[in-house]
Amino acid sequence: MMEQGLQSDRLKSAILEASRADLSSVFRLAYVSRASSLFLPSDLEEIGRLSSLRNPGADITGILVIDKGDILQILEGEKHSVVELFEKISKDPRHENIRQVSGGEKAARLLSCWSLVGGAGASAPEGLMNDFHLLHAKLSTRREIEDITAEQIELLKVIALFRSVPL
Ligand SMILES: Cc1cc2nc3c(=O)[nH]c(=O)nc-3n(C[C@H](O)[C@H](O)[C@H](O)COP(=O)(O)O)c2cc1C
Repeated sequence: MMEQGLQSDRLKSAILEASRADLSSVFRLAYVSRASSLFLPSDLEEIGRLSSLRNPGADITGILVIDKGDILQILEGEKHSVVELFEKISKDPRHENIRQVSGGEKAARLLSCWSLVGGAGASAPEGLMNDFHLLHAKLSTRREIEDITAEQIELLKVIALFRSVPL
């Protein structure tokens, strides 16, 4: 009897925990920047490696696309972890003109199974890359912090998918 009570207590707290996890929101931050003269070709792989090593530990997911010096990164996770990481990334001299374009609490992660992609794989079709550079230019001149749309995230995901295909 005692054993059963204990089990149902455990079950109740597990259910409570799961429902809390579902309800908890996620902070999504996006920024654009430009690679500086200190950004070496080998940095692409190094940043990708470091991020996939460290970000999961802080429960941070996201996506990173770098092309022809244009950088766009989205980070998702608990607000304090995301802000802390963004502050650190902002101080990295390998990029400049850093501009946060989006940041806010969202109902759910959109990039939960997407790690950060360095882009060392196959190249994405030119049309997609043109769209990326147009998006980068648009966000770089945006004055207010606004949501990054699901459609914009979709573009980054498709690019990342192409680039994750080994050469
Ligand atoms: C464009 C860009 C994106 C980066 N993204 C990440 C990231 O998502 N996670 C991370 O740990 N470091 C990232 N870094 C690297 C950090 O800026 C920093 O160099 C690294 O975390 C090493 O920190 P440490 O000196 O404390 O070891 C990024 C750097 C650049 C230039």
